Amino acid sequence: MDKKCFYLRTFGCQMNIRDSEVIAGLLTAGGYRITDEPDEADVIILNTCSVRQHAEDKVWSQVNNLSKLRITKDGHTPLIGIVGCMAQNHKERIFERAPQVDFVVGPSDIQRIPEIIKKLSTIDHRLSAHGFLEKKIWETDGGVRPEEIYHTGFYGDKEHAYVVISEGCSNFCSYCVVPYVRGTPRNRNYKDITREIEEALDKGITRFTLLGQNVNAYQCDGVDFTKLVSLVNSVKGLKEFTFLTSHPKDTTISLFKAMADNDKLRKDLHLPIQSGSDRILEMMNRGYNRKFYLDLTDNYRRIVKGGTLTTDIILGFPTETESDFGDTYKLLENVRFNAAYIFKYSPRPNTAAAGLRDDVAKEEKEKRHALILELQRMISKSKK
Ligand code: 5AD
Ligand code: SF4
Repeated sequence: MDKKCFYLRTFGCQMNIRDSEVIAGLLTAGGYRITDEPDEADVIILNTCSVRQHAEDKVWSQVNNLSKLRITKDGHTPLIGIVGCMAQNHKERIFERAPQVDFVVGPSDIQRIPEIIKKLSTIDHRLSAHGFLEKKIWETDGGVRPEEIYHTGFYGDKEHAYVVISEGCSNFCSYCVVPYVRGTPRNRNYKDITREIEEALDKGITRFTLLGQNVNAYQCDGVDFTKLVSLVNSVKGLKEFTFLTSHPKDTTISLFKAMADNDKLRKDLHLPIQSGSDRILEMMNRGYNRKFYLDLTDNYRRIVKGGTLTTDIILGFPTETESDFGDTYKLLENVRFNAAYIFKYSPRPNTAAAGLRDDVAKEEKEKRHALILELQRMISKSKK
């Protein structure tokens, strides 16, 4: 008989891309085959993002489209799972809004997906008129992920791999949902990290990105991020690596020195500023001010040399005035990033900022967004 197959779509960030590989690795090890066609799948999994409302809306619209599949698939009905950040954010409420969903699994529990699918597959969906809810499973309370899930050897790319070094975040930036959906920080052991890299090298992968919500805060048995970088640099056969994402408050001169000294480490730095206004940075609970950030980027350019510097910006945070916006605009003119990812503020449940009135009008956010985009477009162009 044909192997059962699953369709897996990823929304959101690099961390989610890696989580999807982990899920795919666990399912293929369990005898499933992956498919690009949702309408031939026995299981449909959406690995979701909650960072902005727009990201969630994209998932809800895909879930609505999938409900059609449940009627058209001949013979039997595919199972539908919502996993990742939205699962954690909405938990069992997902079943209320989308009754076609069979399972909901948060980021800390992805190792349970094969077992959940197995359990659900033994239930006959044609009986769903009786005891519908008993057939739904949600799992969002887990703690530490078991280390083995990172070693199934499933990578989406033949040359490059994402390697998680830490999960979660406890910085509690006032706009950000991540601490609520991904939990408090947990660092993987550096020996497991280098072991995973060696396993990927055996498969022919030679380029790597170390991943964490705040890589600079990495700590394990006396190994901090700077030390980890030099350990990774010395792995035999590795050609090149980089890291994502850095928080300015934990980014140090010693990291810049390590970036200059470790020959395999790329010189690029993604350093989200979020706003150029000290008042807004304070309200965002970012833990640094404009001057600190400007000094940091000066030091980066002086010490590291030759890399690209990129950032993230949020426009229209509650109470942001024309003058606050002007500070962000001027900061971009000063720093001249190679690229900037610019987002309109979106209130997220549970966050501190969700208690503030989202008082910058939609049109005003759009106007500021367009102005900054145009400025950055000119700067990026001039730097090519
Ligand atoms: N609204 C808009 N943008 C956000 N980001 C995070 N949370 C929000 C939010 N509530 C942006 C930040 C972050 C990037 C990944 O997403 O700029 O660095
Ligand atoms: Fe990634 Fe954050 Fe989106 Fe979760 S909410 S997928 S951690 S960007």
